[in-house]
Amino acid sequence: MTIIDLKKRFVEIYGGSTEDLRVFSAAGRVNLIGEHIDYCGGKVFPAALNLRTAVVARKTGKNEIRLAATTIADRVTLDINRLNDYRDLKWGDYQAGVAFVMQQDGYNIVGCDLLYDTDVPFGSGLSSSASIEVATAMTLATFSAEAGGKGVDLVRLAVLGQRSENTYNGVNCGIMDQFASSLGKKDNAILLNCKTLEYDYVPLELGDYALVIANCNKPRSLQEGKYNERRAETEQALEALKTVLPGITCLADITPEQFEKAGKTVLSGKVYDRAKHVVEECARVLESADALQKGDLKTFGEYLNQSHYSLRDLYEVTGAYLDALSQREREFPGCIGARMTGAGFGGCTVALVEKSKVDEFIKYVDEKYYDDMGVRALFYTTSVENGAQELK
Ligand code: GLA
Repeated sequence: MTIIDLKKRFVEIYGGSTEDLRVFSAAGRVNLIGEHIDYCGGKVFPAALNLRTAVVARKTGKNEIRLAATTIADRVTLDINRLNDYRDLKWGDYQAGVAFVMQQDGYNIVGCDLLYDTDVPFGSGLSSSASIEVATAMTLATFSAEAGGKGVDLVRLAVLGQRSENTYNGVNCGIMDQFASSLGKKDNAILLNCKTLEYDYVPLELGDYALVIANCNKPRSLQEGKYNERRAETEQALEALKTVLPGITCLADITPEQFEKAGKTVLSGKVYDRAKHVVEECARVLESADALQKGDLKTFGEYLNQSHYSLRDLYEVTGAYLDALSQREREFPGCIGARMTGAGFGGCTVALVEKSKVDEFIKYVDEKYYDDMGVRALFYTTSVENGAQELK
């Protein structure tokens, strides 16, 4: 929806005029490479997208936060003095979680009416939840500052978004999504060290190539359980590896050479495979960022492929739909790399495709994927944009 339409909708729901309305926005993201390593202290390489969550907001001075959305009928009222009580909401639990952890962190949470509008497809691996969390945090932090409390610090907002998802919504996610949603920069990817939160922007100069994001359109199921299970497996691997590599604090501290020697001495089976993926994926991110900076897109694309194979064979988070979709993408002449992006088990792929062949690519992949799986993929026209902001 356009900003004007959103404001009109807000007034239909909450009354008043459009004059005193504010609009905040946070981004969905695509992760170029570095999958399932953020919670192991690795470096990841995401970029913020033009697919976003917008929040139209008005301060009310009451002791409540009211929530509505453009696409669902649910209306929710959160009592600011009981923010811990909304964990079981079907919709609104992400917003409640953010408000709660911010309050715990010393922000001055003030009463407001909020209307959410998101075009980040839900459950797509493009961080719809992080965009809701960060847009909420941006809104509440701005209002907190205006009431004399703590204000906007984009890194802090990302950390609080992650904390709320971990502690309020029961998903043990890493920091990548909230960080990209908050700190994304137009036409740049973020090389983020998830151990230290140090980061660099890397210009996304793709020359004759374009990124194409496609949704395999398989509804995700049991995703959260599997995600937490993978995370637990990496923690188990870390504890075992510490006994032979005493200096390490996270799996990302281990080089592939060290792992080659140490891995088999203390790990076996699935836990070995999971750790091997993490160690090698960490190395691939650095190689990929380097290749991109040198303008060597073919090598960058090859790393995307390798990342997918590792997520398929070692980490086991791809599934038949993402495998089929990315395979069809890869076999198209003019596509130099394709992989799943995000948590996996469904959701999206990202492919690097010759610009002049993008339409042909989409047509080809669409048909072949439908033949393979009997569902239609969705293709998004995306651009890389800034992260969290107030729209003036
Ligand atoms: C989800 C999580 C992230 C990250 C990815 C996998 O998007 O929210 O923290 O772990 O999965 O890379």
